Amino acid sequence: MSYDTPASTVRLRPITLADCDIAEANPETPENEPYSFYGYTAPDRMRRTVESGDAYQKWGDLTGRLSVEANGEYIGHVSWHPVHYGPIPAPGLNFGIGLISAARGKGYGSEAQRLLVAYLFANTTVNRLEASTDVENIAEQRSLEKAGLLREGITRGCHFRAGEYRDMAVYGITRADFEQALADASTTKVRTGFTA
Ligand SMILES: CC(C)(COP(=O)(O)OP(=O)(O)OC[C@H]1O[C@@H](n2cnc3c(N)ncnc32)[C@H](O)[C@@H]1OP(=O)(O)O)[C@@H](O)C(=O)NCCC(=O)NCCS
Repeated sequence: MSYDTPASTVRLRPITLADCDIAEANPETPENEPYSFYGYTAPDRMRRTVESGDAYQKWGDLTGRLSVEANGEYIGHVSWHPVHYGPIPAPGLNFGIGLISAARGKGYGSEAQRLLVAYLFANTTVNRLEASTDVENIAEQRSLEKAGLLREGITRGCHFRAGEYRDMAVYGITRADFEQALADASTTKVRTGFTA
């Protein structure tokens, strides 16, 4: 299974044990993750989720993780989890991404997040996707904009990183935004079988 577009070299697909070898050879450090290092974690944690089967979604799950592949090679991962607003169950999804250092700055992160938006709207019923990133993480902010998300504001002092509380930029896209963008990009009329 993969999620890609014919014009793209980037794909999203389930994690394999071979991906874990590459991820473990590229551990997260304060130096290579300046905006998203929150302390050392078990280097084999991804491998254990693959081996246990926990890395794979079940239908209806709102938490998930996929590998990002470019030109046939594992280059990182995307992941998501539910977020809740209001008392009536209507979760949105918050997603994140991490590419290995060698794969950054080549357009893959923007493309992977564009594919993830399409994947999540196609395979879940949620109405809203969002992502937050440190206000200093310009690459991720630009990448989210290129993936079609709208900058919605700043959440002040909301995450603790490198010894201090920091602000995050919040980005979002609704199902209506996504469908409008698809309609704007399409020159072909959608045939529904219904007439007004
Ligand atoms: C953030 C990340 C996903 C972006 O993906 P990427 O493939 O490196 O970025 P892209 O090549 O798609 O570039 C996206 C935009 O950011 C710009 N950009 C890339 N690296 C940049 C940098 N270091 N500083 C400023 N801008 C940068 C690009 O020029 C591009 O903008 P443009 O089209 O206007 O020129 C990736 O760098 C990454 O995984 N970083 C480490 C983990 C991380 O920060 N994750 C997000 C945590 S919330």
